Amino acid sequence: MDNTILVTGGAGFIGSNFILRWMEREVAAVLNLDKLTYAGNLHNLASVAHDRRYEFVEGDIADRSVLRSLFDRRKPRSVVHSAAESHVDRSIRGPEDFIRTNIDGTFALLEETRAYWEKLNAKDRVDFRFLHVSTDEVYGSLGPADPPFSETTPYAPNSPYAASKAASDHLVRAYKHTYDLPTLTTNCSNNYGRFQFPEKLIPLMIFNALNGKPLPVYGDGQNVRDWLYVGDHCDAIATVLQRGRVGQTYNIGGWNEKRNLEIVETICDIVDEMAGKLASSRRSLITFVTDRPGHDRRYAMDARKIERELGWRPKETFDSGIRKTVKWYLENDEWVRGVTSGSYRKWIETQYSSSVPRK
Ligand code: NAD
Ligand code: TYD
Repeated sequence: MDNTILVTGGAGFIGSNFILRWMEREVAAVLNLDKLTYAGNLHNLASVAHDRRYEFVEGDIADRSVLRSLFDRRKPRSVVHSAAESHVDRSIRGPEDFIRTNIDGTFALLEETRAYWEKLNAKDRVDFRFLHVSTDEVYGSLGPADPPFSETTPYAPNSPYAASKAASDHLVRAYKHTYDLPTLTTNCSNNYGRFQFPEKLIPLMIFNALNGKPLPVYGDGQNVRDWLYVGDHCDAIATVLQRGRVGQTYNIGGWNEKRNLEIVETICDIVDEMAGKLASSRRSLITFVTDRPGHDRRYAMDARKIERELGWRPKETFDSGIRKTVKWYLENDEWVRGVTSGSYRKWIETQYSSSVPRK
């Protein structure tokens, strides 16, 4: 076994942040397998592209022959599985890709990992890890007074995205239980930070606010999410990979519950401050639109287990993280322009043309 980690989906938002962080701090080489869907962007990784410890392979996690040849050739000591279709609204408009990548793809990856792992010598089998990156959305929706999700909260996924991630979590669990594959699962709350595709709430609002476009808030804007800065999530993934107990699940969160409207208002104020005001405050761009079907009301994470067992806690506050994030989008206009061309415009048109302003 070599000192290499195989990262799936490494050209995406979290995957690319994770690889950059990893290569700054660790010695182990990184093999990045990514299909380069609309969400994958190799520009994120330009600074490591020529590093001898880094290799990129364009390929699909559902393609077992690609997986087999990568395992044979690179003999990784770990897999960090972050490839997925990740946007709830896209899963509502077209769930098929979510079933294919998140369920079939995870199954293919588990099968090929198991075949490789079973051939390792006894010591390498013990040292090997398969870390599955998942989400808090598998737990469903909370009422205002409910306690936050813990690792023992029953699964109750509500969107096709959440259901596909729940299915993948169950498969990972079964491979540990049945075959003893040394797995770890992390369930994390909403991330934000550099390289996030501007279809998700925070980068979409920054992008629209900068460009003086309407800020489409679903429903009454009172839905609550827990927000975590992506750098903190990447640290948590590395911590669980290195020190997590095999077979365990760790909830990762920011202790940072916020209503969507509050997030959007904060972004308006920071953009006003950093980019200069338009004729009036950007808050006037806020437009309440038709709600997302089946919109989960509240997510909240109890992240005490990872703190107790592994000593991880988020470092960034929401205030410091959101300011860094807005600043990054302001300073990386070229990146933003690169990802908001043809197919992005088509998505925005499809998604928001049927949205009816509510007031
Ligand atoms: P993303 O959509 O930004 O990136 C996904 C990456 O996976 C892209 O580079 C894409 O090209 C790649 N990919 C998609 N299908 C593939 C396939 N079949 N084979 C190989 N590569 C493929 O997603 P993200 O926000 O970075 O999320 C990464 C992981 O973290 C996902 O598993 C997601 O469920 C999980 N997660 C995300 C958040 C969040 O707030 N973004 C929160 C918790 C968990
Ligand atoms: P999103 O970033 O899509 O993450 P998730 O659905 O996985 O939590 O959305 C975060 C919240 O913001 C969610 O409650 C839906 C809401 N939202 C809007 O109000 N308007 C938008 O245009 C988008 C994309 C999201």
